[in-house]
Amino acid sequence: MNEQMARKLQQVGNKFNLPGPFFSYEEINVGNVNHTYRADYIRDDGTGMARIKSYLVQQVNTYAFRDPVALMDNIDKVTEYIHAQRPNQTCLHYHHTADRNTYVFDGDEFWRICNYVPSVTYDTCDNLEIVRSAAEAFGDFQMVLSDFDASQLSYTIPDFHNTRKRYETLIKDIKEDKLGRVKNVQEEIDYLLSVQDLACKLTDMEKAGQLPLRVTHNDTKINNVLFEENTNKALLVIDLDTVMPGLVAHDFGDAVRFAANFTEEDSEDTSRTGVDLNIFWAFADGFLSQTTPILTRNEIDTLGLSGFVLACELATRFLDDYITGDKYFKVKKDNHNIIRTKCQIALAKDMYKKLDAMNAIVEGCAKKYGK
Ligand SMILES: Nc1ncnc2c1ncn2[C@@H]1O[C@H](COP(=O)(O)OP(=O)(O)O)[C@@H](O)[C@H]1O
Ligand SMILES: [Mg+2]
Repeated sequence: MNEQMARKLQQVGNKFNLPGPFFSYEEINVGNVNHTYRADYIRDDGTGMARIKSYLVQQVNTYAFRDPVALMDNIDKVTEYIHAQRPNQTCLHYHHTADRNTYVFDGDEFWRICNYVPSVTYDTCDNLEIVRSAAEAFGDFQMVLSDFDASQLSYTIPDFHNTRKRYETLIKDIKEDKLGRVKNVQEEIDYLLSVQDLACKLTDMEKAGQLPLRVTHNDTKINNVLFEENTNKALLVIDLDTVMPGLVAHDFGDAVRFAANFTEEDSEDTSRTGVDLNIFWAFADGFLSQTTPILTRNEIDTLGLSGFVLACELATRFLDDYITGDKYFKVKKDNHNIIRTKCQIALAKDMYKKLDAMNAIVEGCAKKYGK
C-alpha cells in the first residue's frame, strides 16, 4: 500500500463523510480512462463486531472528460431515476459531500465515490453465455430508462456519434494535409469515402426524425458490466461517464463492433479480422430479450447495420488522428493509428458481407421476443 495514496484516499473519503476508520485500499486496473480504487473502512456492524465496508473511489480523467460537473449531473439524474424504478435492486449510488455535491474538485483532481459491488469483470470474452448476459444488462439499461426524458441530459461530448460531422472533419483535414501524411493512406481514404452514405445512415435517419432519442451508455464494452462471481450472471452496468442522448443502435453497434470482432481493435493480422456471428447472435439475443417491446420498427431495422456504421465512424476518427499528428488516441507504436484504421476497415468490410445474416439474426430475435 502506497502511504501517500492511502492518505489521499482518506482525505477524499473525509470530504464525503465516510464513516469508520480507513483500513486499506487496492487499485483496480481494469478500464483505462479513470483511476479507480477500492477503499476499505472498518465498521461496527451493530453487534460490536467489526466488518469491512468497501467503497469505489475514482479520480475522473478530466483530460478525457472536459466538463466533469455536467457529466456528474447526467450520472446523478440517471442513477437516481434507476434507483426510483428499481428500489430493491443493486444500483449504483453516488455519495454526497456536506455541500450536496457528488464530487470533490480540488485543484486539478476530480474525485467521486460510489458503492462497491463485489463482482468480477471480463476484459475480453468469447464465452457466449457471458456475452448474452452482458447484452441483457445493456438491454435492461435501455429498458429501465425508456421513459426517461433524454433531453434532460447534457451532450458532454458534442457530436460524439455525428458520423456526417466526423466525415466532414476528415475531408477537411485531408484537403489541408498539414503533415504530408495523406499519401500514405490513400487506399483507406478511398474506401471510407466510397461507403460514406451507408456509414452515415444512422445520423441521417436521426436528423430526419426517423429514430427516437434515447438515453445511451456510449461505452458498451463487456468490462463495463459487473458479473456475479462463479455464476456468469450480470449484476449491473457501470461506467456511466458517457451517458448522453443518443440512438439505441449506437450502443448496440459499438458493443458488437468491440465484442464480436475475431481480433483485437489494433490487430496487424487483418486477415483474421471480422465479425463472429455466434457472438453477434448471443449479443443480439440478450439485448432484444430485454428491449424488443420498447423498440420501434425503424430501430430494430438499424441494428444489423449498426456495427458497420460504428466501425466506419471509428475508422474515420483513427484516420483523421493519423493525418493530423496522432494527438487524440494514445499511440504505442509507429503508425498505430493506421493499423487501427485498417483493422476497423477490415471489420467493416466483413460486416458488409455478412449484413444479410446479421439482419436475419436481429429479425429472428425480435420475432422470438414478440415483434
Ligand atoms: N461500483 C463498482 N463496484 C465494483 N467494481 C467496480 C465498480 N465500478 C467500477 N468497478 C471496477 O473498476 C473498473 C473501472 O471502472 P470504470 O468506471 O469502468 O472506469 P474506466 O472509465 O476507467 O473504464 C471496472 O471495469 C470494474 O472492474
Ligand atoms: Mg470502464
